[in-house]
Amino acid sequence: MAYDKEFVGGLEWLWGEGFLSPGGCEEISEILRGSSIKGKKVLDMGCGIGGITHLLVTEHKAQEVVGIDVAEALIERARIDTQAAGLAEQIKYRLAEPGPLDFDDAEFDVVFTKDVIVHIQDKCSIFEELHRVLRRGGLLVGSDWLGSDNTNQSELVRAWLDFCELDFHFHTAAQLQRLLTGIGFDSVKTRDRNSWYCNAVRAEIDKVSGESRSKFVKNFGEEMADFRLQSSTLKMKVVDAGELRPTNFSAVKN
Ligand SMILES: C[S@@+](CC[C@H](N)C(=O)[O-])C[C@H]1O[C@@H](n2cnc3c(N)ncnc32)[C@H](O)[C@@H]1O
Repeated sequence: MAYDKEFVGGLEWLWGEGFLSPGGCEEISEILRGSSIKGKKVLDMGCGIGGITHLLVTEHKAQEVVGIDVAEALIERARIDTQAAGLAEQIKYRLAEPGPLDFDDAEFDVVFTKDVIVHIQDKCSIFEELHRVLRRGGLLVGSDWLGSDNTNQSELVRAWLDFCELDFHFHTAAQLQRLLTGIGFDSVKTRDRNSWYCNAVRAEIDKVSGESRSKFVKNFGEEMADFRLQSSTLKMKVVDAGELRPTNFSAVKN
């Protein structure tokens, strides 16, 4: 998936300035419910354009955050926004290569990641890396787009992913639990957000149809409006069928 300027603008229209995933400020609080990151050194793995990275400092009082992402243009945009927000002392960004992370063992108190792991096929290797860079007792917390048992075979899912040219790799909540436990995480918890996302996708559709469509078209053109509407409509069927299950999770390194 190419996160070019127009594509990113369309996503921000749906999900709010600085966000490349749904839920905004409220969903970040939901992900962090019951976990404190106050005063902690945090890795934001797959930080995108940094809207959430900011919140980890401003709302959730992390002391220091390092945001990493594989897309240079996104990291550049994140740097500009962070500088403009006066947060450059507390937030640094690094362009990352897919694969092993360029950090020492036990560098972080917390690893946060939102809606990134679905992009990565080799989930075992990336979670082993996230485990390695956490200190003992450190917290892994975030969310991801998980699937149901039959997600990979489903025609609904194929129609949505093919239309959007998305290269997603789903696993299930049970597989995530087993993987994290096997790697050496304790206290693995997951919270299914499918029913919340059903309503959220309806709101996405409203933002690119009806009276809102002309505003979207003014900013991004007819073609992007058609693409967004069709993409959210196909996704709605997948979410309604229970085959896309955004899931919040947390685990502790033992
Ligand atoms: C859906 S966006 C989410 C961005 C941000 N977390 C948010 O919620 O606004 C997924 C992000 O993961 C990044 N990404 C994909 N594979 C990655 C990898 N192996 N390491 C780091 N970032 C990755 C993409 O470039 C993109 O910015």
